[in-house]
Amino acid sequence: MTMSGKKAVQPQEIDWNNLGFNYMNLPYRYRAYWRDGEWQETGLTEDANVTISEGSTCLHYGQEVFEGLKAYRCKDGSINLFRPDQNAARMQKSCERLMMPKVPTEMFVAALKEVVHANEAYIPPYGTGGTLYLRPYLIGVGDNIGVHPAQEYIFSIFAMPVGNYFKGGLTPTNFVASEYDRAAHKGTGASKVGGNYAASLFPGQLAHDAGFSDCIYLDPIEHRKIEEVGSANFFGITKDGKFVTPKSPSILPSVTKYSLLYLAEHRLGMQTEQGDIYIDQLDHFAEAGACGTAAVISPIGGFKYGDNFHVFYSETEVGPVTRKLYDELTGIQFGDVDAPAGWIEKV
Ligand SMILES: Cc1ncc(COP(=O)(O)O)c(C=O)c1O
Repeated sequence: MTMSGKKAVQPQEIDWNNLGFNYMNLPYRYRAYWRDGEWQETGLTEDANVTISEGSTCLHYGQEVFEGLKAYRCKDGSINLFRPDQNAARMQKSCERLMMPKVPTEMFVAALKEVVHANEAYIPPYGTGGTLYLRPYLIGVGDNIGVHPAQEYIFSIFAMPVGNYFKGGLTPTNFVASEYDRAAHKGTGASKVGGNYAASLFPGQLAHDAGFSDCIYLDPIEHRKIEEVGSANFFGITKDGKFVTPKSPSILPSVTKYSLLYLAEHRLGMQTEQGDIYIDQLDHFAEAGACGTAAVISPIGGFKYGDNFHVFYSETEVGPVTRKLYDELTGIQFGDVDAPAGWIEKV
């Protein structure tokens, strides 16, 4: 039992080969408190509940930022974190945008390692494809009511074993253009803040109800260019073999996307470009996919926008370049392929 009375799941109860993307209560999570202008680390706790003041800014004004990354079990039994410094840096940027105290990179990475160590029995075995998903978050708390930044904050990291985010894995699934926006042009789209995701719930549900994996957001100014998927960035492979991904101030700067830009250029010898992807020019692309920590690389089969339905490579088969990128990326993450310097942090 945890302190809250909720029972933590036992490792032997887990079906490692059939993990979805679902919450699981593991024995340990990390907590730190920002009070009197400094971080006070309490370290690991078994309490899965967070008790906060009814005046907490996270409850009323969305003063909340979060991150998502994974721990990978390697063939030799060791444990990899993939570019955790990049998640620390992105969270610091999100904190700037929402006027929250930053968690220093060293504290962030050390806390991740503590959580992974303490819950080591829950890292899916090598070869199952599963990983330990880590969810750091930071919330404004304390007794407030006016619209201003909180004086006190809680930083926490919890974890759970996960499998595929989109049902298909490496099998393509279909997406639909949303009529709604998740973020404004100079709003908070580039920050990983809860409000963006609240705004995406309704368009996401419409997409699911219509039988799609998720929606793709278009640029909030003209709705002519692809921005990103609700939980992943978009990339396309042009017919002449270029890796292209949208550049916009309202999409989340995906660690996976920047990693793929590097791998496409330096490992696959491809040209790469961050630029505009117009929905009326999709014929330039031979393949397309969604990329992110949770999505990994999920091939996009068909894309519905307005009355059009565009099939990129195939609705049933993953394209050859997407597969190569997937093998390179996941090979690095699971320790089977040499990583570029600084990408892997051993736990
Ligand atoms: C809106 C959005 N875009 C993109 C991503 C992918 O980012 P990353 O590759 O850093 O996980 C995520 C998930 O983290 C996301 O929520």
